[in-house]
Amino acid sequence: MSHPFVSSPLVRDVDTILDVMDTQQPSIASHCRRVAAYGVQLAVQYGLPDEMVETIRVGGLLHDVGKMMVSPDILTKPGRLTEQEWRALQSHPEYGFDMAERLGFESSILDIILYHHERNDSSGYPDGLNGHSIPWTVRIVSVMDAFDALTSPRAYRAALSIEAARALLAREAYCPWVVTGLLSIPKSALEAVARNESWGCRPDSRPNAGVLESATTPWNPTYREDPRFVTSW
Ligand SMILES: [Fe+2]
Repeated sequence: MSHPFVSSPLVRDVDTILDVMDTQQPSIASHCRRVAAYGVQLAVQYGLPDEMVETIRVGGLLHDVGKMMVSPDILTKPGRLTEQEWRALQSHPEYGFDMAERLGFESSILDIILYHHERNDSSGYPDGLNGHSIPWTVRIVSVMDAFDALTSPRAYRAALSIEAARALLAREAYCPWVVTGLLSIPKSALEAVARNESWGCRPDSRPNAGVLESATTPWNPTYREDPRFVTSW
């Protein structure tokens, strides 16, 4: 099935950007690929429309592109960040938005890049948006971003287990619908994404049917039929 993104030259830009990230910040490039793959996994499991799945894939791949404009010393600093360093790090959604906007990416992708650190209770940044005004695609990438961050080792802490990360996210200010979706993905499917970082890179690298068939928790159609859901995204 043809899709506006697939036929767009911007798809080639995504691959080029990822190639540059691989060279400059390989751990961030890997993180972006996994976030895209986790997001696609959830979107497919929920039976979301192809266009929405593709937005999540491309937006997931690019969500942290602004970190290429943050000093590597800050990104890899093992200790506590100073206030100035923290401000620089928190600017990465806006840096990424500016870059992607100049390249001509459409608003649904720009939303993911700019708002992926917003939170349901308005405690996020850069704008402190309320959960209801955060697009569904952004909420999905936000949760998967946090999940991958928690389950990946950092200079200042060890990686959390999948169980611990899911339990932690369930208590935080993330969209409950998306967290419920994350909790319903079989652990084996999440582990498979973590093992194969090329997923999410190109449209033909989506999680394959074999993995999705292994899901023990079926997609819950009530979410799709819920009018609040249908009209909100
Ligand atoms: Fe980020």
